[in-house]
Amino acid sequence: MVEFIDADVAPARNTGQVRLYGADAFSGMHAAGGLTARCLDALEEIIAPGVTTQAIDDFVLDFATSHGAIPATLYYRGYRKASCTSINHVVCHGIPSNKALKEGDVVNVDVTLILDGWHGDSSRMYRVGDVRRAADRLLQVTLHALELGVAQVRPGNTTGDIGYAIQTYVEGERCSVVREFCGHGVGRLFHDMPNILHYGRPGDGVRLQPGMIFTIEPMVNLGRPHVKVLSDGWTAVTRDRSLSAQYEHTVGVTPDGCEVFTPSPRMVSNL
Ligand code: MF3
Ligand code: CO
Ligand code: CO
Repeated sequence: MVEFIDADVAPARNTGQVRLYGADAFSGMHAAGGLTARCLDALEEIIAPGVTTQAIDDFVLDFATSHGAIPATLYYRGYRKASCTSINHVVCHGIPSNKALKEGDVVNVDVTLILDGWHGDSSRMYRVGDVRRAADRLLQVTLHALELGVAQVRPGNTTGDIGYAIQTYVEGERCSVVREFCGHGVGRLFHDMPNILHYGRPGDGVRLQPGMIFTIEPMVNLGRPHVKVLSDGWTAVTRDRSLSAQYEHTVGVTPDGCEVFTPSPRMVSNL
């Protein structure tokens, strides 16, 4: 049985309890998440054929520092970049490098900015020039899967309701949901309780309560769901090398539903 704890009195580490945050946290998360969303918006103007993923990372670091924020991934568990950049069959945690993007690629950029101690975590997909129809459809399906997950966030529903909504939709579109990585509690900490699985059954998991803050970040593959991590210890790829996509929002549970802390008019599906 999961325990809940008032975030104002919780120790500064993951205790296995689910933090319940108050109004100050929601406004702090709104600022941090909004800044992360503006950073991802600005990247739409930069990402193009020939641009390296290191150039994307340089932009994110510069954007963060010039807005009084710190990228949470920098020096996190030995990671040394301000973002993750995951191209094509890379599922997540791609490490920025001097490899250039090319026409037809799809790339996820995942950014977490810490502003006044609050973590705003979001990622989205970018199309590099014109992309194939199958790639475009995968991106649409993945973004809509995130939207369907967010639509389940309200008091009384459970984390399993979120996972179930995502999984049934994705599999109905003949795509697959990655199991090895999940969403997570976030707020004062980068990765906190509870885990938010992107698959599951209605009513399973943790019952949602006002004050909970977490991410939803489904990874969806065109082929099989299985992944492996490369020898760099970070880069996760699809085992069958099929295309993979991911979108991520940070959300908070309110008394009558949810607040998305990382919204953008550029991150809305047309499904
Ligand atoms: N931002 C990722 C997430 O959504 C975590 C990246 S951790 C890193 O949770 F170390 F790989 F950068
Ligand atoms: Co993220
Ligand atoms: Co996350």
